[in-house]
Amino acid sequence: MKKFQGVYIKNEREIACLAEANRIVSNILDAIGEIIAPGLVTMRIEELTQDICAEQKVKPAFQGYFGYPYAVCCSVNEQVVHGFPSDRKLVEGDIVSIDVGVIYEGFVGDAARSWPVGVVSEEARRLMRTTEDSLYVGIGMARPGNNVFDIGAAVQQFVEAAGFNVVRRFVGHGVGVKMHEKPEVPNFKPVLRGVTLRPGMVIAIEPMVTAGTYEVDILDDKWTAVTCDGKLAAHFEHSVAITHDDPKILSISDRGFNRHTFNA
Ligand code: MF3
Ligand code: CO
Repeated sequence: MKKFQGVYIKNEREIACLAEANRIVSNILDAIGEIIAPGLVTMRIEELTQDICAEQKVKPAFQGYFGYPYAVCCSVNEQVVHGFPSDRKLVEGDIVSIDVGVIYEGFVGDAARSWPVGVVSEEARRLMRTTEDSLYVGIGMARPGNNVFDIGAAVQQFVEAAGFNVVRRFVGHGVGVKMHEKPEVPNFKPVLRGVTLRPGMVIAIEPMVTAGTYEVDILDDKWTAVTCDGKLAAHFEHSVAITHDDPKILSISDRGFNRHTFNA
């Protein structure tokens, strides 16, 4: 695969494979969205994902990645990312972020969404809406000639204007035959400049937004990231191909464009 400034440039066939991997991921997220409700045991989300992966003949991308034990990350309330599905029951008022990855024909699909569980607080809804909107603000910067760090600068400005904060500890990433490829895609403005975006680059943009501090702790399970102040966090992620003109969101389900899943 050709590289530019250390970043793989995918050809049409490779982007088609990434689109298929991400279509499957997005269909899984749609199916998960259907079952999110008060009383749901979060391990059901894992089981549903495993079932669809088996049926679609794809491999979960996260399971076994640096020893991660599950196909999904399930992060509730103050959990930011990398939470474990478990025997925990969702209750009315929770918010839940689900991250899914699959490997199709050697190519990785990666996307995430947050949902309300039943009726949630106004602040929780505003946090999720701001996080999803900030993802589209970032995607809007994913154009050839822009710097990859323009994405994070725009995300951060948007999120902070809404009175929330962006997590620094975790960042988005290039995605392809490996889940994490160059470049890093921060959700904030770094001091230096990063790579210049080029058609054929594929990146996962994934703002993690907090209602309070952006500082996170990692729980004793070595994975679950939680906000240090215990306030809510939300997470949305799309895999996006840079093209000669508009950015192409690859993580689109058969149902079609899925913006504002929770805004009703
Ligand atoms: N979407 C997350 C990421 O891009 C998922 C990684 S979870 C892991 O980093 F368990 F696989 F690490
Ligand atoms: Co990712």
